[in-house]
Amino acid sequence: MKTLIAPSVLAADFANLQRDVEMINGSEADFFHIDIMDGAFVPNISFGLPVCAAINKHAKKPLDVHLMINNPDQYLEAFRDAGAEWISVHLEACTHLHRTIQRIKELGCKAGVAINPHTSVTLLEDIITELDYVCIMSVNPGFGGQKFIEKTYDKVRQLKAIITEAGANTLIEIDGGVDNSNAAALVEAGASILVAGSYVFKHEDPKEAIRLIKG
Ligand code: DX5
Ligand code: ZN
Repeated sequence: MKTLIAPSVLAADFANLQRDVEMINGSEADFFHIDIMDGAFVPNISFGLPVCAAINKHAKKPLDVHLMINNPDQYLEAFRDAGAEWISVHLEACTHLHRTIQRIKELGCKAGVAINPHTSVTLLEDIITELDYVCIMSVNPGFGGQKFIEKTYDKVRQLKAIITEAGANTLIEIDGGVDNSNAAALVEAGASILVAGSYVFKHEDPKEAIRLIKG
């Protein structure tokens, strides 16, 4: 399977959002990665439901909505209604993660769990068969343009072993600091979905950047 690419709209030009959405539509990208930050779970505020719905109006690929928010249960249905087809919640923000994952599925969405750099992948062992994807954060969530944390490779390999051992089909997504220098090694380690913000939108030819990390 070719690597799935999810350009992060966080790095787009918000004053030219439709132009950037059309760029992704016309590229080899597979998703729109939508970063929702609440200023509480993470120390930054990005954008919310109306912007998600506006992107969805023009997007020709599924929205992968990454909820970096406390109490995500309260907003799951609203994000589904705003166009989310894939939804990830943070393990660190969920007291009843199993219930939250069931709810995402009941809403008809693909269900994912995102984990911060300090969170061990072993904490997913008892829920892995329920997950469509795991988003391993390769930076501390909250901002685009940060440096990739090298320890991520070990985590990907360890998670891949857990998935194989469980006989699950869970996909591994990597989010943060992904570029042309680490994409191939991440896929080699077991990743299937790569999120990329700065690398794509700062590139002089964003479609070419997407093509390059797709491999
Ligand atoms: C970080 C976000 C990422 C971010 C990635 O909190 O979850 O999706 O937009 O941006 P880059 O690729 O610039 O690290
Ligand atoms: Zn993200």
